[in-house]
Order: sequence, then C-alpha cells, then structure tokens
Amino acid sequence: MTTTLHTEPDIILKVENLEAEFSSDEGIIKVLKGVDFEVKAGKTLGLVGESGCGKSVTSMSVLGLLPQPYGRVTKGKVIYRDTDLLTLSEEQRYTIRGNHISIIFQDPMTALNPVHSIGKQLNEVLALHRPDLKKKERYRYAVEMLDKVRIPQPEKRLNEYPHNLSGGMRQRVMIAMALACKPDILICDEPTTALDVTVQASILDLMLDLQEETGMAMIFITHDLGVVAEICDDVAVMYDGKIVEYADVFSLFDHPQHPYTEKLLSLVPGLDKPPKQMIDIKPYHPE
Ligand SMILES: Nc1ncnc2c1ncn2[C@@H]1O[C@H](COP(=O)(O)OP(=O)(O)OP(=O)(O)O)[C@@H](O)[C@H]1O
Ligand SMILES: [Mg+2]
Repeated sequence: MTTTLHTEPDIILKVENLEAEFSSDEGIIKVLKGVDFEVKAGKTLGLVGESGCGKSVTSMSVLGLLPQPYGRVTKGKVIYRDTDLLTLSEEQRYTIRGNHISIIFQDPMTALNPVHSIGKQLNEVLALHRPDLKKKERYRYAVEMLDKVRIPQPEKRLNEYPHNLSGGMRQRVMIAMALACKPDILICDEPTTALDVTVQASILDLMLDLQEETGMAMIFITHDLGVVAEICDDVAVMYDGKIVEYADVFSLFDHPQHPYTEKLLSLVPGLDKPPKQMIDIKPYHPE
C-alpha cells in the first residue's frame, strides 16, 4: 500500500498581492496595497490589525462585495480551489458566496431583516441555496439549524422577530444562516465584538464545535489577540493595507517578528506585559 504524506494541510484559499481602492470626492483612496495570505482547509486564520487597516475591505474583496460603483479590486488573485474568484462573473460569484464561502458580520441587527420572522428569513436562505429541499424539509432543517447553534425551543423561535432576541441569540441565528449551506470557508468579521464577554465566550465555543463537526475553514477578523490565542491556528497581522506578519499562532506569540505585532501583543493584558500598558496606547508609526 502506498501512502501519501502531506506535510501541510491543503490550502483552500490563497490571496495574492490583492490591491483595492475607493473613489471619493478627494480622489482615489488606495486601501489594500498588496495583501497576501493563505487559508488551510479546516483551520482558522486570524486577521488582526488596527481599525481602518483594511480587514473588512479584504473580506469584501474576497467575496466580491465591495460597495459599487466606488470600490474596486485593481490587482491580485483570490484563488479558491484552483479558481481565481476575481475572474468569475457576478452570477458565478453569487453561487460561490451562497454555497462555498459564507460571511458573518459584527452586528447581526444590520444583517437580519427586522420585519420578517426568524423562520421566514432562514426559509428564504434555504429556498435560495438548497433547492433540493421541499418546503416541509426546509422547516425541519431550519429547526435543526437553530438547535445546532444551541438556541433553546427552536420551533418557538422561528415565529419570533429579531427584536425579540438578545444580541447573542441574534448572532447565533446569523451563524445558523451562514452554515445552512455548509460552506467550506466561513469569514467572521468581528462576530463577537458587539457581545458581552460571557456571551462572546459561548459563541466562540460554539464556532469551534461547529468547525470540528463540519471541517470548514475560518477567517476570523478581530481586534482581540486574546480571541486569536484561543481559536486561531495561523495569524495574519495587517497594517496599512498590507500583511506585515504571517505566522502560526505559537510563533507569533512567542517570537513576533514585526514591531507592529510586538506593539499589539504588548497591549493584551496578562499576555506578556502588565495591563498598565493599556493606558499608553499610541498609534504605531513605522520609522
Ligand atoms: N465604502 C467606502 N468608501 C470609502 N472608503 C472606505 C469605504 N469602506 C472602507 N473605506 C476605507 O478603507 C479603509 C479600510 O477600512 P476597513 O473597513 O477595511 O477597516 P477595518 O480594518 O475593517 O477596520 P475596523 O477594525 O474598524 O473594522 C479605511 O480607511 C476606510 O475609511
Ligand atoms: Mg472592519
């Protein structure tokens, strides 16, 4: 019997030299200035960096969701399983978004429709992306999904509206929707920052369990290096539209290579410096 040895898990997504810009009244603003990173199948990549460095623009560029007509990708490749997503038609990309790569955002209230019940919204997602399911099966699947994200009394919740749910419950609904189509990759853009710390912890636990169960990869965008330490396998540190450091999570925490990474690490209470560092947060400026 022959065995194939894989020293590295498969790379499922490869972003190469990605550049993106916005047009504004003041001219063109270059936001991504050559972003490179890889996501391994079944693993979690943390994308960290200060506010405004381009993390959300990166995720929107990967999915072809930059606001039109002001935003555009000007250079680079987004290779998903041997296909450069940037060369696909809008229709083809729509299919990828629904069925292969999903995204959840920071504030579920903006993503959920306040006038429709949770059940109706889950049903719509399933009708779009799971045409194989009949109406009754969709209902059953929706109940199963809510149960999976540990929402108690799922049948009852299907008849409720987003405002009836707590922030944590709404985020669980968003996760259920994002996972309904069994994506290969889930992009999470600060999905827990709007939640209080204990709810945050339970959502992170849930996501780790779901990842183990489904084998999906995740790109986890966050400010919080504590979260990174807990759930990420690899980390890409972003500064001013570029990845300035990319490493596995242990190397990054043990031997940060870039001064900006050191700065970020020094701001995490209890990691390597006492919390008093927190009172001295200055923006990082490279020499
Ligand atoms: N629709 C837009 N039009 C013009 N500029 C934009 C637009 N969206 C984002 N930008 C600019 O792109 C840059 C990167 O924004 P982005 O939202 O990706 O930052 P971020 O790293 O996600 O920050 P945060 O941590 O605050 O979410 C910012 O300078 C922002 O002003
Ligand atoms: Mg953002």
